[in-house]
This record gives sequence, C-alpha cells and structure tokens, in this order.
Amino acid sequence: MLQKIGIIGGGNIGGVLALEIVKRRLARNVALVDIKEPDLAKGKCLDISEGTPVLKNDINLMGSKEYDVLKDANMVINTAGVPRTAKPDGTLPSREELLTTNLKITDAVSNGISKYCPKAIVISIANPLDAIVYRLHMNLKIPKQRLMGMAGALDSARYRYFVAQEAGVSVDNVEAMVLGGHGDDMLPIRSACRIAGMPVEKFVSQEKLDAIENRTRNAGGEVVKLLGSGSAFVSPAWSALDMAEAIIFDKKKIMPVSAYLDGEYGVKGLFIGVPVILGAEGIEKIIIMDLSEKEKEAFKNSVTSVEKTKNEVLALTK
Ligand code: APR
Repeated sequence: MLQKIGIIGGGNIGGVLALEIVKRRLARNVALVDIKEPDLAKGKCLDISEGTPVLKNDINLMGSKEYDVLKDANMVINTAGVPRTAKPDGTLPSREELLTTNLKITDAVSNGISKYCPKAIVISIANPLDAIVYRLHMNLKIPKQRLMGMAGALDSARYRYFVAQEAGVSVDNVEAMVLGGHGDDMLPIRSACRIAGMPVEKFVSQEKLDAIENRTRNAGGEVVKLLGSGSAFVSPAWSALDMAEAIIFDKKKIMPVSAYLDGEYGVKGLFIGVPVILGAEGIEKIIIMDLSEKEKEAFKNSVTSVEKTKNEVLALTK
C-alpha cells in the first residue's frame, strides 16, 4: 500500500481509477484533481468516500480543482485531456488544434506534478499518448525510470480477449505482447502470443489471427462508435492499474509500456511501447525481444510515426 496516489483528470477513466484504488486498497490516500465546474473531483471523491463504510475501508479521498491536493503523492496517474468533440459552430477541431489544447493541459499537469510531488512515479494515459508522454518528459525532467505511458497493456489485453474468444479458452490462458506506438501501426507480436505456453497458431488459423490483429489496432475506435460519446474507460483504467500494482507490490512484472528509449532497439530519445520489467523503481529494465525481420520492419514503421508525433510536439513548443 502506498501512502498516496494522485489522479489527474476525474472524468471517465479517472473515476474508475479512484474507485478501483479504494476497492483494491492500493493507497492510504487518494487525491483527484479536475478543473471541471462546479467541482467534479470533489463530488466523485465524496460519493466514493460515503461508500467506504460499506466496503469497511478507511482510505482517505480528497478531490479538488487545485493541484495542491497532490502534495507528496508517491505515484501519479494522468488522464487529463479533452476528446475530439465538435466546436459550437459544428466543425471538428483539426488534429493540430486538439494537440495544442492537450499540450497546454499537459503543461498545467506538469506544473502541478513538479510543484507538489516531484518524486512521484508517473503513469500517463491521456491521448495522443505518445505526444503527451513526450511533453511530460520535456517538462518534468525526471529520471526515465519514473515516467511511462500506458498503451501496450491495454492493446495486449484486447488482443488476448479476442484470441481467447476465437480459441474458446480462458482469457487467463492467453499471453500476448503488443508493441510500438499507440496508433494504427501498433505491433501485435504473433510469436509472443501463447495459449497455456503453446503457440497461438495451434488454436487459431493465420487468417483469423490477421483479422484479430486488425481488430486490435482499431479496437479503440470500435468502442467509441458503439458508445456514441466518449471512449473506452474501464479497460484503460484496469490496464493502468496492472502497471501500478506491478510497481506498488514490486512485482518485477514484464509488461509492454511506453518507455523512453536511449539506444535500445536502435532508437534514441523516443517514448515507444516495448517490454519492460516494472518494479518498485518504475521501469527497472527494458527487455530486448527477438523480432523476426518482418517484425523489425514493422517496429521501424511505428518508430517513424511516433517520431513524427514527437516532431509535432517540438514544433508546437515555444
Ligand atoms: N487539469 C485537470 N483535469 C483536466 C484538465 C486540467 N488542466 N483539463 C481537462 N481535465 C479533465 C476534464 O475536465 C475531464 O473531466 O480531464 C478529464 C478527462 O476525462 P474524460 O473527458 O471523461 O476522458 P476519459 O475517458 O477519462 O479519458 C481521458 O485518456 O484514454 C485517454 O483518450 C483518452 O485523452 C483521454 C484520456
């Protein structure tokens, strides 16, 4: 159990995070920050707090529009951002407009972390994932072990679910690893997908696997379309908590995480999804996977598109 976990952004994902942290007793104190009026964060915390006697659970929740509630948090999970919604005149914001807005929000998030909990381990979920994590890295200047993005954990969970459904086996039997950026060119590593230790191809045909990998790449959009408004929020929150628990309980768990590469995989100065060991120190080691020639090529393509995003962030920096 940590002394304190801070959650930035108390919308759909932030709400599930707060609830689950309390249910799982991951921290003695939970702080939730959201700028939404009249006081969304305070309201969500009060709602959960009033239920704690039923859970027989003495965790202290504090919600606020101000960042000072984050004071001395040991871990921060960032979900602050605005989604792509129509402007009052009915037009959609351009990608650049949206990125500019979200980078401004990320600057506010960074100031809050630097001021109130500079020693925290930071897990970022907000989209566009690769751009936001890079901006946090530029602003926070914390050791690379302590800053990471959540994407691969969710993409791998989605892949595992689809494979389990197709194979007719428990999700618990399916192991998978999805690497690269959190975009259309993410990389499900088929050779790393095992069912109870056996190659996935023993259970699922090549054609079905092709289709599953495609569905995994578009899984976020599939949920957005069905919901009508907003995006997936339960599975992203659970996936981030899988990372948080690996750190809190010093599990040394190998998971795909958006990590800062400093020469690993031949890449320098970029956050991208790779397998890492997560423990009490955060990212304790980056694992170099043996990739086939085809996978290496696909990883390179993903690096190129994440690099493009990074350059957009740099171009939008005064
Ligand atoms: N500080 C704190 N919170 C902020 C700030 C800020 N500067 N700016 C915006 N927020 C809050 C919003 O008020 C909103 O309540 O961030 C919250 C985001 O919540 P939702 O819109 O419900 O989005 P959610 O589904 O939780 O997703 C959060 O994660 O997966 C990504 O694409 C998703 O970027 C999005 C993020």
